[in-house]
Amino acid sequence: MHPRRNVELKARDHDPEVTLAAALGHGATDQGVLTQVDTYFAAREGRLKLREEDGAATLIAYARADEAAARTSAYHLVSVPDPPALKAALDDSLGTVVVVEKFRRLLLWQDVRIHLDAVEGLGTWLELEAVAPADSDLAQEHRKVAELRAALQMADEDVVATGYAAMLLERGAATPRLVDLARSAMARAYAPYSQFQVGVALRDEVGALHTGANVENSSYPQGTCAEAAAIAALITAGGHQIREAVVMADTELIVPCGGCRQRLSELAGPETPIHLAGPEGIRRTVTLGGLLPLAFDLEVPAR
Ligand code: THU
Repeated sequence: MHPRRNVELKARDHDPEVTLAAALGHGATDQGVLTQVDTYFAAREGRLKLREEDGAATLIAYARADEAAARTSAYHLVSVPDPPALKAALDDSLGTVVVVEKFRRLLLWQDVRIHLDAVEGLGTWLELEAVAPADSDLAQEHRKVAELRAALQMADEDVVATGYAAMLLERGAATPRLVDLARSAMARAYAPYSQFQVGVALRDEVGALHTGANVENSSYPQGTCAEAAAIAALITAGGHQIREAVVMADTELIVPCGGCRQRLSELAGPETPIHLAGPEGIRRTVTLGGLLPLAFDLEVPAR
């Protein structure tokens, strides 16, 4: 089956009551309030979430480019008869990255879904979603979204590119999971020469998590650091940026070696948090800029 597509737009909503009145005034119909809990799993490709909504549950798999504009999204919907069992299976096999809880007032206008969302920990948001028929060139959907955007006065500066899950991740929602992942990576390190096992876990710009362990070699210089392995895993999985890192070793305070600071700086910024951890958890959090001031940097050549 082909994935479904829609055009969507999300913005901060400073006054949901005003927005609700504007939507009703523009002819939208109120479909009531839903309670939604979205559990995001660590999918290898795209994003995977279980949506539980007033007794019903759906597994949603989707790929979406993050951009602050109306964008298209391709997704699969699978109805789930036994949500607790599926959640346990996916948590055990893939791992849970973040849980998003919200109340959603749903309105409909010419097949466009209008969502007035109150999200736990994130405040109030307005989202437009125009679901496209299979043969649509999406022009119609973009036109409807543009009309509603004007009617509901969605300001440019309020429009956001990321989803709720990514916003919660930026606030540290995945940090405990990154610590667990770094710990299991550390336990799998191949370090028979130094006996110094290092585990690294990275979060990328779409919230996917990647891990690496150091891999030594009897020809010593051929050994690679855990950071290098984790960065290779991130790139291989389709990630582009490092948004957060955990580096773990069972030593006093692990700090990335000089070479790895440079490696991290290729895909991370001076503000990127680097958590320095021992097996019991985070001991100290620094920024990459703190670890590597005056970093060497060249413009990435255009391709
Ligand atoms: N190591 C890392 O994996 N990352 C670092 O940032 C520091 C050092 C590894 C390399 C080698 O396998 C072992 O630790 C001892 O140097």
